[in-house]
Amino acid sequence: MTADLNRRGFIGWGAGMLLAHALPPLFAAPAVSAEAKPIADLLIDRHLKVSSVSLAIGAEKPFKALHFSDTHLSLSDVHDLLAGEEKALALYEARRPRFPVSVQALAATIAYAGKKGMTLLNTGDLFDYRSEANLDCVGRCFAGKDIFSSLGNHESYGHHAREMCPQTAEAADSLRKRYETAIGNPLLVASRVVSGVNFVAFDNGGLERWLLRERLVAIKAALAKNFPVVLMCHMPFETEAMREAIARHESVKRGKAWTMPANTGGYLMGKTDAELLDFLRTRKSEIKAILAGHLHFEWQGEWEGVPMLVAGGNYEGRVREISFT
Ligand SMILES: [Fe+2]
Repeated sequence: MTADLNRRGFIGWGAGMLLAHALPPLFAAPAVSAEAKPIADLLIDRHLKVSSVSLAIGAEKPFKALHFSDTHLSLSDVHDLLAGEEKALALYEARRPRFPVSVQALAATIAYAGKKGMTLLNTGDLFDYRSEANLDCVGRCFAGKDIFSSLGNHESYGHHAREMCPQTAEAADSLRKRYETAIGNPLLVASRVVSGVNFVAFDNGGLERWLLRERLVAIKAALAKNFPVVLMCHMPFETEAMREAIARHESVKRGKAWTMPANTGGYLMGKTDAELLDFLRTRKSEIKAILAGHLHFEWQGEWEGVPMLVAGGNYEGRVREISFT
């Protein structure tokens, strides 16, 4: 420091030195601590809650898959907001805060399956509501991934106002096609054989309502492959044990006794799908398991002797690693 530095110059020089220390270099590599983990591991550690189960289904070779459901992505971008109406804004503002880590949870789910080389099995409510931002996110993160999906009730109706939902078969078809482009497999009925097991995913979330006959025909065709079958859908098949589990869950959540009404109004797969259920009853010996979602809590039981697994809410990181044998 020079001796003739006046007070003002000293202050300016000192402040400059302080700033030089406070500001990071523009192009320096970020500091990496010795214990730094890859981002995939951080996401998995922070956001994933993995449970495990084994299912004997007659696979040619044992394999693992990761079942997830109810991610409820709640993304909207500026275009979505400006192109939508007041109800779209209200939906965004009401719903987005309910699923604050759904993006991290989905990223962790995909990272975990990738690290372990597992197929991803998704049983719906991937979006909480329709938006280009949600579709873009799914389109980009599902591209090239080993993933097989069915739709949920939020992709069709959920909390959308009636006028925001398709009102005709043509509108429903066109919406389904947009979803298929992003998600990557047919979404009325799809069948995929893995290690000699036929995974049959079908829509019971509401968008199929104009195509119940076509859905039944397609499921019959899928089952004609004559492999052991695992069904995948969003709404669980209704059973008394499940109704009791929902009542217990809701009673805890509400802090007071709650019983499920006799008419579930389509909350579970039941009377409205009577024809499909009647057909599936005739093929129960081939159906080795049912994978579903919708409840937002994990449940494991049986539908008429067939094991049924309901995944918890992926929006809070729940996934189930299934060892198929
Ligand atoms: Fe859901």
